[in-house]
Amino acid sequence: MFNKQTYIARRKRLIDQLEGGVVLLPGNDESPMNYPDNIYRFRQDSSFLYFFGLDGPNLCGLIDIDEGSSMIIGEELTIDDVIWSGPQPSLRERCETVGVEETCPTSRLGQYLAEATGQGREVHYLPPYRAEKVMQLADLLWRNSADVREGHSVPLIQAVVEQRSKKTPEEIAEIEKAVDICHEMHTTAMRLVAPGKREQEIAGAIEGIAVGRGGRLSFPTILSVHGETLHNHHHGNVMQEGDIAICDAGAESPMHYAGDITRTLPVSGTFTARQRDIYELVLAAQTQAIEAMKPGVLYRDVHRLAAEVLTGGLVELGLMKGDVGEAVEAGAHALFFPHGLGHQVGLDVHDMEGLGEDHVGYTDEIQRNPLFGYRSLRFGRALEASFVLTVEPGLYFIPQLIDKWKGEGLHTAFIDYAALDGYRDFGGVRIEDDILVTETGSRVLGTPIPRTVEEVEGAIG
Ligand code: GLY
Ligand code: MN
Repeated sequence: MFNKQTYIARRKRLIDQLEGGVVLLPGNDESPMNYPDNIYRFRQDSSFLYFFGLDGPNLCGLIDIDEGSSMIIGEELTIDDVIWSGPQPSLRERCETVGVEETCPTSRLGQYLAEATGQGREVHYLPPYRAEKVMQLADLLWRNSADVREGHSVPLIQAVVEQRSKKTPEEIAEIEKAVDICHEMHTTAMRLVAPGKREQEIAGAIEGIAVGRGGRLSFPTILSVHGETLHNHHHGNVMQEGDIAICDAGAESPMHYAGDITRTLPVSGTFTARQRDIYELVLAAQTQAIEAMKPGVLYRDVHRLAAEVLTGGLVELGLMKGDVGEAVEAGAHALFFPHGLGHQVGLDVHDMEGLGEDHVGYTDEIQRNPLFGYRSLRFGRALEASFVLTVEPGLYFIPQLIDKWKGEGLHTAFIDYAALDGYRDFGGVRIEDDILVTETGSRVLGTPIPRTVEEVEGAIG
């Protein structure tokens, strides 16, 4: 946990940002896996963590904007808590560590909110993403669940996005701790890949590193020789000579800041000439994208730059044809690069995605492009100093998508479908790092992880 002044300052800023009313920030509860007492590992809500810092279940934060005060709603310890979960600080002591002096039992929250709404004061809350939170809010606010889902506060979302997007030095240090855990995970994966190995052996080993370093995974590991499937969480394949495997894996720091790194590994230790061509192309797109990042630059333009580098290379390889700018404008590159260049990283690996991607990544002026490929870009607006984003270009050969586009005669001016026949079993290549936008440019966070062809081949086996 950070020093209590951090949480006091964050709440004070929120009070200054909003015009009035009450902010309700429910923390998360334990979540059952298959029967009530057999629970998933607890994960606190990230906005609750950001403003109240307490990493445990059954708490709710309340900020009275008009009075300028904060309160934690929860229950004091009982002897049962000590018997089953061990000795621990009281609720009041925990609240003091984050600068909150007032506490209130859960049973009184409904009455408190009824009084506030009776006085015509707005109750601001963020979009709930767990069903039990929708039900809890419905009970507390006397609304039905459909109204609760629609009734989140846009001014609160905007205020939270404004604060959480700008990472402070202490937050950047946490993200770097997470990336350093990723370093160990990815270099371990590089050491372990070999023909005959099952993907799950490597996935298990690197997931253990995240836990062993006091953290956890920041998202379910993607580790597969079928990297053309973008979010491939299946680890059942046996790696074969000549395969390439995408490893997209990340850890959270013990304070829950995320790292998100992808590397593409030649299972036999060296890339084939064809794999190397595609790898170098993705690496060039990533390098140029990172170099283009600085305050004021639209991230959608960085995405477009990466798409142009990829398309230029695919034209040179004979897989695409025609004018690069026109091909990218038309979205033809999205056959090979169907996802966005990146997303913010912070307390969530896709930071604040639960608040609504368009609130996080777009503005009234910079709107999401609905075209296939572009529409998956989670963040398009202008970069600001102290933002942290991933840069993760990729090239994929998805046989079903190739067949669909070919069958529909899509973009025949830009795609040489006959040349693609030899690539149907290629798989995919993605390279991803976590980038801080600085006052003058950008910086790749964490200890450098092998990235060039020579570095990756040197780290295998
Ligand atoms: N690392 C997975 C993703 O960014 O979607
Ligand atoms: Mn990512």
